[in-house]
Amino acid sequence: MRIHVLGSSAGGGLPQWNCNCPNCQSARDLKQTAISARTQSSIALTDTGDAWVLFNASPDIRQQLNAFPELLKPNALRGTKIKAVILVDSQIDHTLGLMLLREGETLQLYCSAQVYEDLSTRLPLVNILQYYCGVQHHLISPGLAFSVPELPFLEFTPIGSLSKAPPYSAHRENPELGDNLAFSIYDQKTKKTLLYAPAIEKIDPDLYAYMENCDHLLLDGTFWSVDEMSAISTPYKKAYEMGHLAYSGPEGMMAQLRELSCPKTLIHINNTNPVLDQRSEQYQILKEQGFDLAYDTLEILL
Ligand code: MLT
Ligand code: MN
Ligand code: ZN
Repeated sequence: MRIHVLGSSAGGGLPQWNCNCPNCQSARDLKQTAISARTQSSIALTDTGDAWVLFNASPDIRQQLNAFPELLKPNALRGTKIKAVILVDSQIDHTLGLMLLREGETLQLYCSAQVYEDLSTRLPLVNILQYYCGVQHHLISPGLAFSVPELPFLEFTPIGSLSKAPPYSAHRENPELGDNLAFSIYDQKTKKTLLYAPAIEKIDPDLYAYMENCDHLLLDGTFWSVDEMSAISTPYKKAYEMGHLAYSGPEGMMAQLRELSCPKTLIHINNTNPVLDQRSEQYQILKEQGFDLAYDTLEILL
């Protein structure tokens, strides 16, 4: 399988429109190369290259797709190789881009019952899209593997990941297992498995077992530290209050995944994160612990 990172930043992107922190300043400055700008969280994935799925549809989708013309349908006046969109949750940064796909054919949307509820009630994107391209919903649930017809070699298994529903969701304070999904994606041709989990608050034994049995981990890279948002806003939320496991500290992601030797790439990196600056001590520690940072246009072949 081939994975193309469309967007590697968390919500807000890098630089964020209203932010003047050192990372955002640096990413805005075209004369420097130490910190590269990043769009919001999304990947595209294919088995043979003929058909693709998007995981998440970010507010930056127009820019992302225009930067990756391989997704256009060849030899046609209009058309796309994108056959479906799979959602990991109903967060703004993973869903607003659905609106921008309205010029296409009926949208094949794979998401949990909880995510569909959010997107048809409090943030009714799918209701609005009925007046444009239309939406066909494919219900997916933790533990139940599914496939997308146009990508016959890939098997997708959703895993109930413990994170947060968005602030606007009716489930924000009463989490349900389908609010956030991680995915194990198995390629029957290459016999390789990707574990994609851009929002993780806790690594429970079920998720860890999937992690042990994969060939590449593409994981929640939002925060280096639990208190990272304290430098930027008051009152601020701790990483876990936002549904994310920070990677430093004795209970952090790096410590919890120490035994896993497969390649580990972090995605959905927040603009506050010190590792974005490759000259930082934190970035050096991350590399020593066997982690890499995703960047926009990064490709992973499995
Ligand atoms: C998150 O992943 O926690 C959200 O993207 C935060 C946000 O919407 O700003
Ligand atoms: Mn997010
Ligand atoms: Zn910033």
